[in-house]
Amino acid sequence: MTTTTTSPATRTTTAVGIVGGGPAGLMLSHLLARAGVPSVVVDARSREEIYATVRAGILEHRTVRSLVEDGVSDRVLREGYEHCGIELAFAGARHRIDFADLVGASAWLYPQTEVFKDLADARERDGGDVRFGVSDTRVVDLEGPNPGIRYRDAAGDEHEIRCAHLVGADGSRSTCRRQVPADAATQIGREYPFAWFGFLCDAPPSAEELVYSHSPHGFALVSQRTETVQRMYFQCDADEDPAAWDADRIWAEMDRRTRVNGLELRTGTIRDPAVLRFRSFVHTPLRHGRMLLAGDAAHTVPPTGAKGLNLALADVRRLAPALVRAVRDGDETGLAEYTERALERVWRAQHFSYWMTTMLHTGADGSEFDRRRQEAELRTLVASRAGRQFLAEGYTGWPADED
Ligand code: PHB
Repeated sequence: MTTTTTSPATRTTTAVGIVGGGPAGLMLSHLLARAGVPSVVVDARSREEIYATVRAGILEHRTVRSLVEDGVSDRVLREGYEHCGIELAFAGARHRIDFADLVGASAWLYPQTEVFKDLADARERDGGDVRFGVSDTRVVDLEGPNPGIRYRDAAGDEHEIRCAHLVGADGSRSTCRRQVPADAATQIGREYPFAWFGFLCDAPPSAEELVYSHSPHGFALVSQRTETVQRMYFQCDADEDPAAWDADRIWAEMDRRTRVNGLELRTGTIRDPAVLRFRSFVHTPLRHGRMLLAGDAAHTVPPTGAKGLNLALADVRRLAPALVRAVRDGDETGLAEYTERALERVWRAQHFSYWMTTMLHTGADGSEFDRRRQEAELRTLVASRAGRQFLAEGYTGWPADED
């Protein structure tokens, strides 16, 4: 049972305290509740703020199945778009990677904001304790038997949540992760000498499926949202200033990176232009004292393979049963194995995202050798069923990975 008492700070006691009310934190809270384990979730952002943030939009088939079968929502099946393939465009032509034929699976276009809404609604429906819009969040006593989360509510009043297990699901700039002493963890990663310029536009789709376009002018991605709203990205410098780009310049850049490969873009009003920096990053181990990390707090990938949200939800599908065993039976074997089990998949996705990124983007030196080598790699890939299958398996989610 979750109990609340007053003074000096309002204190709540629960089994699992979760910092971060994004998809990882909410899904974890949902899965725990279904197993009868109480939790409290806090997030510094308001629900509206999280919902308004434009994020990536591709779900692996396993992620979709979990949203439906784990009882979050089946809205994804009604409002999401099933994509049975993608296109790779390079050296003047477009090539389809047919997921259905190659691996009998698909990916779904369903923006992360919709997944967030479904999860937040499900927690509300099930009476979950989720506290958005808190401030001054701190985590304490990570190494003691009852770690805590402290924060202030909108009125400035102090609150404390004491729990048996604390989970940091608070995103790439995680406060929780920063509490781990430097000598207790290793951070492994790499930076990229480029970023993505992303925007939404009011236009019909330019293609039936997503087009990943390699060109002498850099990479571009033509993605979608609905019949009337599209999502697009092009590779830019990591320190690019979005204010320096008006609509004409944006469309000219998208056009020259896609027209060379035979794609005619349908244009429209541009909204929410932003430069999105990224890196490959893994923090290990995922457990420190009585705190566990999940999702972007623990690892991030470049967006080219659209793996971020899928990895976050895969983490908590592993973490939830381990926490249930620990809370119910006092058996922490699953928690001890969590790092190894979760990171096995994370490293596969790290490789996949790195591979897609470096195969499609113009590198720092932008040499002719590199461009021709990339074109040869892409040609080898699309000319071989084994090559296309390798991509299709990674994109839709590896079958050996079922849990
Ligand atoms: C998106 O639609 O936001 C998106 C799609 C595919 C990616 C990355 C982002 O690889």
